Amino acid sequence: MTGLMQIGPVPVMAENSILLPLLLGAAAVCVLLLAAFLIRSSYERKHFTVTHYEVKSPKVTEEQDGYTIVMLADLHNNEFGPGNRKLTDAIKREAPDLVLIAGDAVTVKRGSDVDLESFRRLLEGLKEADCPVYFTRGNHEDRLVKLPEVFPGIWGQMTTLLDRYGVIHINNEQTVLPPKKGVKDGKGPVLASYEIPREGYRKIAKKNAVNEEMIRQAIGIPLSSSEEPPFVILSAHSPLFGEAYSDWGADLTVSGHFHGGTIRLPFVGGLMTPQFHFFHGKERGMFLLKQAPDGPKYQITSGGLGTHSINLRFRNMSELVVIRLKHN
Ligand SMILES: [Fe+2]
Repeated sequence: MTGLMQIGPVPVMAENSILLPLLLGAAAVCVLLLAAFLIRSSYERKHFTVTHYEVKSPKVTEEQDGYTIVMLADLHNNEFGPGNRKLTDAIKREAPDLVLIAGDAVTVKRGSDVDLESFRRLLEGLKEADCPVYFTRGNHEDRLVKLPEVFPGIWGQMTTLLDRYGVIHINNEQTVLPPKKGVKDGKGPVLASYEIPREGYRKIAKKNAVNEEMIRQAIGIPLSSSEEPPFVILSAHSPLFGEAYSDWGADLTVSGHFHGGTIRLPFVGGLMTPQFHFFHGKERGMFLLKQAPDGPKYQITSGGLGTHSINLRFRNMSELVVIRLKHN
């Protein structure tokens, strides 16, 4: 009887003595994993990868074959080396025919100063790319234009910078690009820019917030300067409305805005966009939108070069996009 009384409490003490180290061990593992995650995230925000895409279309002429566009999307004032030297050096190595700054070069938030100095340093560095630089707005620059009472004079300062560095700003319009380097008296493809209305940037915006007719109303039908319809590139900052872009007539739409989905999971892709679309599936990469009688319609979405508000990246390196057009 005495022996039985003594045996009772022993297993309880043993459970406690195992449980505590287990909990401490689990907590330590969680802290280590979190630290590793944050270190990796910081690395992916401070370094970038260069992604090359080849876009083949019968609408790319023989003389345009190899036309190279470098796209910078969603830089959000990020800098890779002093004055963005690492970024501009990488751009120079691609020997581009065109640099396209495709929106959200700066971060614009209520209550925060807009950093135009890092944007100026970027434009200074881009002079060495020795090619035309075009600029299309993202939702952040749109705030400067649409909310002048909140950001007085800032958009004027930004356009002054664009003018000073010879950067061409297009918005709700189309232009025939200069020819490939070394080609005289030729033509480049058409570049169009669509300004997405504010409802298109709302949280969990619906895919029908933009349609083909709205784009036509804003910028007309795709330019056609000769009997041969040109290859048309549409810069539309949010990739959400790919179907409308290709229905409008874009042979290639270039976008950013989704920041690659913030955290990318194996087999699933991006976790979340800045508009809180979860597992959207097309946060980053090149996608065939449709096969039309005049050729395929593609969309390329950059994972972006910066972040804001949710300053995280994981398995989602900052990305410089290089597009080569191919005649076929
Ligand atoms: Fe954006």
